[in-house]
Amino acid sequence: MDVKEAVYKRRSVRSFTQQEVPQEVLAELVDAARVGPAAANRQPLEYVAVTDPQLREEIFACLKWAAYIAPRGNPQPGHHPTAYLVVLRRKDYELEGMSLYDVGAAVQTILLMAVAKGLGACWLKSVNYPRVAKLLGVPEGVEVDSVIALGYPDEEPRLVNLEPDQEGLEVIKYWRDEQGQHYVPKRALAAVLHRERYGNRG
Ligand SMILES: Cc1cc2nc3c(=O)[nH]c(=O)nc-3n(C[C@H](O)[C@H](O)[C@H](O)COP(=O)(O)O)c2cc1C
Repeated sequence: MDVKEAVYKRRSVRSFTQQEVPQEVLAELVDAARVGPAAANRQPLEYVAVTDPQLREEIFACLKWAAYIAPRGNPQPGHHPTAYLVVLRRKDYELEGMSLYDVGAAVQTILLMAVAKGLGACWLKSVNYPRVAKLLGVPEGVEVDSVIALGYPDEEPRLVNLEPDQEGLEVIKYWRDEQGQHYVPKRALAAVLHRERYGNRG
């Protein structure tokens, strides 16, 4: 799969088959993030790869899913993630808050690698951080930043164009239809791309 295909195929997945994800596959995802861009090349990010069935259910209890459609967007029993990558930031390697940008680059790398490996993933920041830190034994000076839920997908959320509602307001909220199909609206290219000067759209 080339990068373009992975980019457009990637959606946040919140329903998974119960096929296990090998630790080696998680290591491949982290290895890709490891070689990504890092502000001043400080490389403050570390990761905990979780596959243990009991531990992952304890992590699951620390997460909130798809706030716009809660609780419909929650992974249902029997469809929970089968793995997690928990992204950590080492404060001693921090440079003036720049590690937040590193996280963005690293997580997107992991999400795209996940697609290439046939996995589905969801980046979560609605997280009970103190609880996750405790569960994983994360020491002082290391912060839990994000949780990436992973597993083999059993849903295919669909990308659609963002359309204005009856009042002409943009509807950025994702939604599910009666069959449970998840739709994700994105702004049109012409709405976000300015050619040469701001305001030259399309
Ligand atoms: C920084 C960040 C935090 C997010 N936190 C959550 C979260 O806590 N729970 C969740 O279900 N999804 C979370 N998401 C996923 C977004 O809801 C999702 O990216 C958005 O709906 C667009 O869908 P897409 O990823 O399929 O393009 C987060 C995404 C980002 C970038």
